[in-house]
Amino acid sequence: MAAKYLPMREIMAQGAVMPILTVADPVSAGEIAKALVAGGIKVFEITLRTPAALKGLEAMRAAAPEAIVGAGTILNATDLHRAIGAGAQFGVSPGMTPELLKAVRQADFPFLPGIETTSEAMYAREMGFKELKLFPANVIGAIPWLAAIKPVFPDLVFCATGGVKPGDVLAHLSQPNCLQVGGSWVTPGDAIAKGDWKAIETLARQAASFKRPA
Ligand code: 3PG
Repeated sequence: MAAKYLPMREIMAQGAVMPILTVADPVSAGEIAKALVAGGIKVFEITLRTPAALKGLEAMRAAAPEAIVGAGTILNATDLHRAIGAGAQFGVSPGMTPELLKAVRQADFPFLPGIETTSEAMYAREMGFKELKLFPANVIGAIPWLAAIKPVFPDLVFCATGGVKPGDVLAHLSQPNCLQVGGSWVTPGDAIAKGDWKAIETLARQAASFKRPA
């Protein structure tokens, strides 16, 4: 039987920039998903930070069946199970707890635990997670951090998020252990509020044009 989910590393390889969005209503979520896909984005994450998030996730899956839609801001096993129930195809957390990682393993679900320190990297690795969210990237100085830990953890790869902007995407992606960056700039709140889906499509096209150096 085919596996239910793609491995996390394959999901990361579908897009060097992963839009991270927060929605207030499910109808907008569907429209945003269509605009992102129209702009060439294949993978994006909806945060579980609003009451509309789970309905928004369902709406995104329905509106863009060709996309890979993840749920972010998963803080515990309850969030995880709700996200999976709403159709999430991968999960992201700003951090990790033993209970959460155990639940992820039991669900056999692609997942990016969040880390910020070498000890957290070691813990995630020990728990079998080698694809990690590096958060908050701008606070820790992600670019020199990634360079410094590459020889120490050659098997770990990262999605750097938190304060990343178009102007520093390529500097992050030039680090060989940075497979992806994530950010909210592709889906700005004012464009969502105005229903300006064309603006989001334009930003998505720019985001989709970023590639990791060969
Ligand atoms: C995250 O969860 O990584 C952040 O919300 C990303 O958003 P930002 O690009 O606005 O920092």
